[in-house]
Amino acid sequence: MRRKHIIFFVVAMFLTWNMLMYKTIVGKSNGVQPHNHENVEGKLSVLQSEIEKQLKNNEQLLTELQKKQQSQLKPTQAVVTQAPPKAKGPNSTGENESWLKLKDTDKVDDIVLPILMIACDRADAVSRSLDLVLKHRPDRKRFPVIVSQDCGHQQTSDAIQKYVQDHGVVHIKQPDLGKVNVPWPQRKFEGYYKISRHYKWALNQIFHTFNHSAVIIVEDDLDISPDFYEYFAATFRVLHQDSSLWCVSAWNDNGKLNMVKDDPELLHRTDFFPGLGWMFERKLWLELGPKWPDTFWDDWMRHPDQRQGRSCIRPELSRTSTFGKKGVSKGLFFEKHLKFIQLNDKVVPFTQRDLSYLIKENYDPKFVQYIYNLPEVTASEVKAQSKKALPEVRVTYKTKEQFKDAAKKLGIMDDFKAGVERTAYMGVVSFSYQGQRVHVAPPSDWAGYDTTWS
Ligand code: UD1
Ligand code: MN
Repeated sequence: MRRKHIIFFVVAMFLTWNMLMYKTIVGKSNGVQPHNHENVEGKLSVLQSEIEKQLKNNEQLLTELQKKQQSQLKPTQAVVTQAPPKAKGPNSTGENESWLKLKDTDKVDDIVLPILMIACDRADAVSRSLDLVLKHRPDRKRFPVIVSQDCGHQQTSDAIQKYVQDHGVVHIKQPDLGKVNVPWPQRKFEGYYKISRHYKWALNQIFHTFNHSAVIIVEDDLDISPDFYEYFAATFRVLHQDSSLWCVSAWNDNGKLNMVKDDPELLHRTDFFPGLGWMFERKLWLELGPKWPDTFWDDWMRHPDQRQGRSCIRPELSRTSTFGKKGVSKGLFFEKHLKFIQLNDKVVPFTQRDLSYLIKENYDPKFVQYIYNLPEVTASEVKAQSKKALPEVRVTYKTKEQFKDAAKKLGIMDDFKAGVERTAYMGVVSFSYQGQRVHVAPPSDWAGYDTTWS
């Protein structure tokens, strides 16, 4: 409506001005020099050029008004603070890359993010984990620490108690220490049943007893990076705003030395639930808590019934690493894989960064465009380093076997959970190989994960 009024006003002004000019000139020529044709012609041509000038002015005025109107509409959309980035990485985080602002970060920054540490019977481990959690903690009020202990182990309990007195840590104990009723063939997995039982109880405490709005959950065999809190505080803003995200994790499943880009700023979206130091909001617990499984809680979360297409944020460089050689899974996986995951040691002030590029609607279009414009090579060519001149490449897989083959050649994790590869986003697994950035990706007409792939 406003725009129509302005146009009408401009046109009316223009017509009135023209009529006045015409009357003046014709009136003058009639009264003073009725037969001087040359004079009239000269005046008419002056009039014509003035009308043209005025037309130009009007046009200019109109475009300026339109511009003004558009800029008045902008605040409801994203506020442009810098020029859009040039085609670099889909998620590179240089200063000029962040041009969209998150909304309402002030209020979100007030939300308390408790650290829930899950402990059992490893006194040394829990002390080591707690030492780092407390060492790097910037703020007691915003990040209260709650240790939930299972297993009734006295020595571990004593170890935790020291932190209660000295650092205000809250120590809670899972009350049901009875044997879990595990069907016979599953007996060897009893430990996983106990872990699941403990998680359910501890998370109910966080959300129903302590009434928190979110949680950062860690286990008692994790070291954390110096910027752990910066990472979670900043990504919480994104998690809170983007309903297509259901978690933020500190873990990169392919985060081995030489397999990562040495860029502590780099963050990604992933469809694979990584766990191992992760954050989620209360509303997710209200959804998952009532149907929490008896065992293998992490694989249960990865099932489409739970995940429902949602993604997590994960870092390129892990913000946790595990030293839990002795544990329920008996250290096999630890020796073969886990101990090689590198812990980031640099501090990134993430809360001073604009992370809105991680929001789905900003991220996905750029991600797809970026990945599918990369030069295509084979896994063997990457391994042989015969295309080393290309800094970044795409390797295509069409079948489960092709993915596994590429993964084995290049040294990334080759397993699937509910059809999703570790760290994958839209089927794409990104990592570094001898300094070359590689994206193992399905064809561009990819139809989604095939849950039968395992
Ligand atoms: C693995 C996962 C872990 C996941 C678990 C369940 C890795 C590196 N770890 O555990 O994230 O939660 O599978 O699928 O992939 N615990 C109890 N009660 C017990 C035994 C253990 O609460 O009876 C606690 C431990 O203190 C620890 C957690 O459960 O915090 C995991 O136990 P751990 O022994 O470390 O087993 P993982 O094999 O590492
Ligand atoms: Mn462990």
